[in-house]
Amino acid sequence: TLARLDDVLHEARSAGRGVGAFNVIQLEHAHALVAAAEATGLPVVLQISENAVRYHGSVLGIGSGTKALAAASSATCILHLDHATDPELVKQAVDLGFTSVMFDGSQLPDEQNRDLTAEVTARCHEAGVSVEAELGEVGGKDGVHAPGVRTDPDDAAAFVADTGVDALAVAVGSSHAMTERTASLDLDLVARLRDAVPVPLVLHGSSGVPDEEIARGVQAGLTKVNIATHLNVVFTGEVRRVLAEQESLVDTRKYLGPARDALRDEAARLLRLLASPPPV
Ligand code: G3H
Ligand code: ZN
Repeated sequence: TLARLDDVLHEARSAGRGVGAFNVIQLEHAHALVAAAEATGLPVVLQISENAVRYHGSVLGIGSGTKALAAASSATCILHLDHATDPELVKQAVDLGFTSVMFDGSQLPDEQNRDLTAEVTARCHEAGVSVEAELGEVGGKDGVHAPGVRTDPDDAAAFVADTGVDALAVAVGSSHAMTERTASLDLDLVARLRDAVPVPLVLHGSSGVPDEEIARGVQAGLTKVNIATHLNVVFTGEVRRVLAEQESLVDTRKYLGPARDALRDEAARLLRLLASPPPV
């Protein structure tokens, strides 16, 4: 079933639970992530990034395929456009039936980020689509590892009031595209942001954050937890393992299938961890 991001996040936030948001690059990811949501009975955010759209040349194929799998599933799925910087792509995704959008103006000068985010948000809300935005750039997307950046709670509250967004990505110690899980979060800041900001908080670049630290972050007030690179580490690791074992193998299903299963299992494990973070 396709669901709205704000409904799922508000319920999770009140219950002190986290929700997994995992990136779909190939259709294998979509199959695996929907299967993980079905296996756990937990909601999942299927997110397709602007970069992934660029890779495919258009949002049409990967967006429609993922939407069809989500809609046909018994699990609660949110179809989310991730890190969109192009308002035209936002429009295409909304027209295609995405239920949620992250508009990422974090690289723009502050005032421009506010204005453009407010404009995009108003248009998305008219179509019944939720919007996530980012304040305080989470580094790592351009190879710039910047775990030192922080979002100020008062700024964050004002940004949400000015733009009307439904969820806010904050910079609290993580950084995009880490393949080692060694980051630590500024948990005091998470708690202060949780108190200051009326909408659910989003952690980007969560691949670099170890399980226990993710659990602490959810307990401190994070709700949507974005994980992409770590799942690619698992997926590609399985492809490597199978290909190394069977050098004459050429049927793509024979290595993508096991990789898809490994991705499903790790995504299910993460969904459970986020939904009931063990006391740490
Ligand atoms: O928007 C996507 C996430 O922030 C994923 O970041 O690849 O570092 O886990 P990651
Ligand atoms: Zn991100």
